[in-house]
This record gives sequence, C-alpha cells and structure tokens, in this order.
Amino acid sequence: MRTRLFVSALLTTAALAAFGLGAFACGGKPAPKEPMITETVSDAGPEDAAPPEPPKPKSLYERLGAKEGITKVVDAFLKNLTGNDVVKKRFAKLSKEKVEKFRNHLIDQICKESGGDCEYSGKNMKDAHKGMKITEAEWNATVSALKAALDENKVAENEMNDLIGLVAPMKDDIVEVKAKPKK
Ligand code: HEM
Repeated sequence: MRTRLFVSALLTTAALAAFGLGAFACGGKPAPKEPMITETVSDAGPEDAAPPEPPKPKSLYERLGAKEGITKVVDAFLKNLTGNDVVKKRFAKLSKEKVEKFRNHLIDQICKESGGDCEYSGKNMKDAHKGMKITEAEWNATVSALKAALDENKVAENEMNDLIGLVAPMKDDIVEVKAKPKK
C-alpha cells in the first residue's frame, strides 16, 4: 500500500511538470516575468525644444587678432605716417610723449570700436583735430597709410573693409579744409 501511494505521488509530479505547470515556483506564485524592453527612437527632440544656436560670428576685434594684432597694425600705421610726404610734418613735430599717447589712444580706440573690451580715454575726433586745418589730401594719405599697414600685417580684405568702414564716418569731424569741387 505504501509503495502504491509513493508511485502515485511521483506520477502526479511528473504530470504537472509535463503540462508546464512547473513554472509555478514554490508557494504557488508565478515566476516574475522579464520586463519588456521598449525603445522609443526619435530623431526630433521634444517639440518645444529650441533649435541649437548657430555659432556667434566673430567680432572685428577678434578677426584683427585682438589687442596684439591691433597693436601691430597701429605700429605699422605710425611708421607709414611718419614716412609719408603729405603728412609726415604733422607727426615730426610731436614730442616723444605725445607720439606715445597718440599710439596708445589709437590702439584703445580701434580696440573699442571693433568690439573689444577696451576703454578709450582720449578726446573725441572733432576735439582731437580741432584747428589743425587738416585737408582732404591729408585724409586720403592717412587712410592709404592705414590700408598699407593692414596689408603689411596680412589682414584679409573683409577685415580691412570693416575697419575702413569704422574709420570713414570720422572724416567729417577730422577734415576742416574740404577739397574745392572741380569745375
Ligand atoms: C584715420 C582717421 C584718424 C583717426 C582714427 C585718428 C585718431 C586720432 C586719435 C585717437 C588721436 C589722439 C587723441 C587724444 O590723444 O586725445 C589723434 C591725434 C592726432 N591726430 Fe588723428 N586720427 C585720424 C586722422 C588724422 C589725420 C588725417 C591727421 C593729419 C594728417 C591726424 C593728425 C593727428 C595729430 C597730429 C594728432 C596728435 C595731436 C596732439 O597730440 O597734439 N589725424 N588722432
């Protein structure tokens, strides 16, 4: 009798296993299922996300090579002015201190006007050139000296045009002796 009971228990266990009920762990609870992994693929960000900012365009100050680049241009400009027949007498009579002040003010002025973090503490262009009776021919020679200085320092055409564009509106405040209109 005992042997028959044992054989029947064995058979019941085998039958349960055969029907796949072995998945029920001890205690009768179902075995935890693996979580389903779902991946959302999206090539667009959230709808309200701002588009990435385009890179900021470089200021003229940066494109001129910052303070170092500007200083080189100003030094070449002063050299060209003192060697130019039309304007050299204007600068030959300045004291060493005045030339140094003029140089530093020019560097600061170009630095500030081109977008650099500089302070210009000199006079405005009208007051700085008041009573000098600067002529149009002198203006043209000065602008040529500046262009040559930019060329000597291999400043590209774009930057040259931008700098000349900053200087050009100063003409009215600097030139006191206008050229006579041609007849
Ligand atoms: C390209 C345009 C010009 C610019 C950006 C310019 C800029 C300046 C600056 C920043 C100063 C110094 C002001 C101060 O220290 O308070 C100055 C002084 C002076 N500029 Fe000009 N200038 C220009 C054109 C000219 C021209 C056409 C002449 C005559 C040829 C001239 C002759 C002088 C002289 C002689 C001084 C020195 C005055 C002194 O210290 O007694 N500049 N200029």
